Amino acid sequence: MAVTLLAPTAFAADSIPTDLRDTALATFRALPSTTPTVANNPNTPEKIALGKALFFDPRVSASGVLSCNSCHNLATGGDDNHETSIGHGWQKGQRNAPTVLNAVFNIAQFWDGRAADLKAQAKGPVQAGIEMANTPDQVIATLKSMPQYVEWFDAAFPAEADRVTFDNFAKAIEAFEATLVTPAPFDSFLNGDELAMTSEQKQGLALFMDKGCSSCHAGINVGGQAYFPFGLVEQPSAEVLPDKDKGRFAVTNAADDYYVFRVAPLRNVALTAPYFHSGKVWDLKQAVAIMGTTQLGVVLADEEVDLLVAFLNSLTGEAPEVTYPILPSETATTPRPVT
Ligand code: HEM
Ligand code: HEM
Repeated sequence: MAVTLLAPTAFAADSIPTDLRDTALATFRALPSTTPTVANNPNTPEKIALGKALFFDPRVSASGVLSCNSCHNLATGGDDNHETSIGHGWQKGQRNAPTVLNAVFNIAQFWDGRAADLKAQAKGPVQAGIEMANTPDQVIATLKSMPQYVEWFDAAFPAEADRVTFDNFAKAIEAFEATLVTPAPFDSFLNGDELAMTSEQKQGLALFMDKGCSSCHAGINVGGQAYFPFGLVEQPSAEVLPDKDKGRFAVTNAADDYYVFRVAPLRNVALTAPYFHSGKVWDLKQAVAIMGTTQLGVVLADEEVDLLVAFLNSLTGEAPEVTYPILPSETATTPRPVT
């Protein structure tokens, strides 16, 4: 009995390279212990608090029903756990909602990288007909109708003459999103705590690098830094890669960019099923196996998939404590919801 219990541990210890941490540090980076700074948008407590209120406020949508948090629920991994999101008038979008957790570290936003940063991104959903279906003017009219919001914008952007603007709306949301950083056991390991990851997770990390996953999924977000064809070696099924979504081609119009997508960032991936931009795969093991065939041209053995998933579990981080904000109350001049 003792032998059968000990055997796997002995095997695990043997198969973990002694220089695993150093090798990993050449490819990955631990999350910072403080809120990252973002370009052209210095953060202040006032701006972050305003951004948080806006993130949770459904009145920035035309219907008054959908907030950013509806599709990026901070209680459930920063996404909506739907294949594709449900937006204005119950319409179903074309793509799976990525998590907002650690999104600040991605090279660009969206599956096709069409927004340069979080402040550019935040203007999109508000105006998208199938998401929040609103207009910048209407958002500003809504916010200006509530004196408490005007005060909060004044405090967040004191140096500006015109403070309640759509640009500042986006900047405040970006400042809040930059706080959504989730240090994980993998970070503790990178920072020198050898015991932070289990031996299975470390074996999985070694395999992740050996097999070549890390040639694409690298950097601080274990992805999110580069673009590759989904189906580099072998085309995924038409269900997983619907042919109507051409990915980055729609952004660049370059023939090379057909079905090219941003390499998915893998932090908290265990919390963000379903997977891929189509949201067609609900099981992380299946998603990993698909990556093996489509990106690497290998059929991964079950035990290899299990180890890779064990490593991916070490990327599940500690979500920041977010207290649900009490929002300003609407007034007689607040635009009425449109359904
Ligand atoms: C993408 C934030 C509202 C659905 C994103 C991303 C961010 C974000 C940061 C990119 C993440 C990444 O690329 O890794 C926000 C904010 C919102 C908001 C701040 C409020 C202003 C919504 C709503 C829905 C939604 C209401 C659903 C109706 C999606 C989807 C994507 C996305 C489907 C991926 C779209 C694509 O790649 O083409 N969001 N979001 N978002 N969000 Fe939102
Ligand atoms: C997506 C894992 C290799 C490029 C994903 C996802 C997982 C994953 C779990 C889905 C994430 C999500 O939906 O949130 C792995 C593993 C690999 C591997 C374990 C090694 C066995 C690669 C390689 C490349 C790559 C080598 C580049 C050639 C991508 C891209 C996506 C993605 C572009 C987004 C696909 C989409 O459009 O939905 N990966 N990956 N991956 N991976 Fe990998």
